[in-house]
Amino acid sequence: MKLAFLSLAIVLASGAVFADEARDASVARGKYLALLGDCAACHTADPKRPFAGGAPLQSPLGAIYSTNITPDDADGIGRYSLEQFADALRKGRAADGHYLYPAMPYPSFSRLRDQDVGDLYAYFMHGVEALPSKARPSGIPWPLNMRWPLALWSAAFTPQGAYQEVAGRSAEWNRGAYLVQGLGHCGSCHTPRGIALQEKALDQGSPQYLSGAVQDGWAAPDIGGAQPGSLQGWSEQDLITFLRTGRNDHSAAFGAMSDAVLHSTQYFSDADLKAVAVYLGSLGEGQAPRHTAADQTTPRLAEGKPQGEGEALYLDNCAACHRSDGQGYRATFPRLAGNSAVLGASPESLIHIILKGSSVPKTQGAPTGLTMPDFGWRLNDAQVAELATFLRSAWGYDAAAVTAAEVARIRALE
Ligand code: HEC
Ligand code: HEC
Ligand code: HEC
Repeated sequence: MKLAFLSLAIVLASGAVFADEARDASVARGKYLALLGDCAACHTADPKRPFAGGAPLQSPLGAIYSTNITPDDADGIGRYSLEQFADALRKGRAADGHYLYPAMPYPSFSRLRDQDVGDLYAYFMHGVEALPSKARPSGIPWPLNMRWPLALWSAAFTPQGAYQEVAGRSAEWNRGAYLVQGLGHCGSCHTPRGIALQEKALDQGSPQYLSGAVQDGWAAPDIGGAQPGSLQGWSEQDLITFLRTGRNDHSAAFGAMSDAVLHSTQYFSDADLKAVAVYLGSLGEGQAPRHTAADQTTPRLAEGKPQGEGEALYLDNCAACHRSDGQGYRATFPRLAGNSAVLGASPESLIHIILKGSSVPKTQGAPTGLTMPDFGWRLNDAQVAELATFLRSAWGYDAAAVTAAEVARIRALE
């Protein structure tokens, strides 16, 4: 009798150990998934108070504040059941039934599989410290702040059901698609939005998907192969290096992408970054290269005989770092000839970076930050427009001219 009791106790105890181990493993997986989903980018306003919310997100209607997703019972999501958490993530429906603003990228997160939602839940319940901090009301004025229309929005624009494997594609490609469409929510910045601010496409079935969009005065370029020159000449390894370190021989991350690299993509596992690169690489397959003509810029600049004001401004202010041939210096000063920020359909990033400068993010893989100085204080709107127009037609490329009015609009932002 005693012996049976003892063995029962051992069985129970080892069951508890198994349960603990299973939970710990789930919490650890969830912690990684939270990096993939960049939950901290929006939900952490103060780095000392992770996930306590309160970060403002600008929307065309006014500021929206992220909420507290620590397991605090009163202010956070401590009382959320797994089902309620899953509904918030995948349907944009909070535990009390109100619908969330799509500043929370739930149309993307709707792709998440149950297992991943469960692991995220385990992490937020058991791996995150509970912190008090009440949600801030949005700055959206009445009546636009009424939430009931969001229920209709969610029903119309949120796909039902988790990611479905695409037949005929490798497991690696499917993993990449799952990450880019789902947790990575790359489309929330890279896909153009429609009239109701919905992303125009949520997967590669439409040419609009990842075809480039403008937000907060930065243009996220086409990375979906829609336009000639999309990720042109980028190898799989180039993509991996960019997402891991924030720079490669084609470009250096800036604007919102700098944050995405800093808080999220630099932490992707090697296998996951490879999968993302395989998937993105497949989207651009067969896309025509950008049109180019013979380069007449380099010889003129090399001889110190610039033609026109824009070219002269480039020689005086920029060529020292980006060079006469626009090739820059490897992994230090990015190449501007053929660069998507220079040639993109929208010149917002180009104007923005000239006016306000930028710093490459310091990542684990590339710990030195490099800085592009700001020129907004030295160059007036007309000069910046001349300079940008020159860059868009330099070295044999031909993108549309930039006007002083466009420059003035971006100067006025913030
Ligand atoms: C791009 C910004 C952004 C990202 C990334 C993001 N969220 Fe959110 N999230 C928000 C905003 C904003 C709200 C509040 C929306 C509102 O009040 O209507 C929110 C609300 C929530 C809520 C509802 C909580 C409540 O009761 O109000 C949960 C749960 C949540 N997010 C979890 C997550 C998780 C988990 C991740 C990462 C996998 C994540 N979020 C990533 C912006 C974001
Ligand atoms: C002191 C060196 C330096 C000078 C001078 C300089 N830049 Fe830069 N530039 C950089 C660095 C470093 C970056 C990367 C910044 C980042 O990614 O955050 C950069 C990035 C850029 C980019 C974005 C390209 C990309 O892929 O990241 C453009 C466009 C650009 N510079 C244009 C110019 C123009 C136009 C001028 C002259 C008005 C200029 N730069 C002067 C160092 C310089
Ligand atoms: C918060 C907005 C945001 C999110 C989320 C985001 N991006 Fe970006 N991305 C940008 C912006 C803005 C740029 C332009 C600046 C630059 O080149 O760094 C950019 C640039 C890029 C570039 C460089 C393209 C080129 O031609 O120079 C790649 C590649 C890229 N993003 C991939 C991704 C992937 C993959 C994801 C999802 C894992 C992602 N981005 C998520 C905003 C975002």
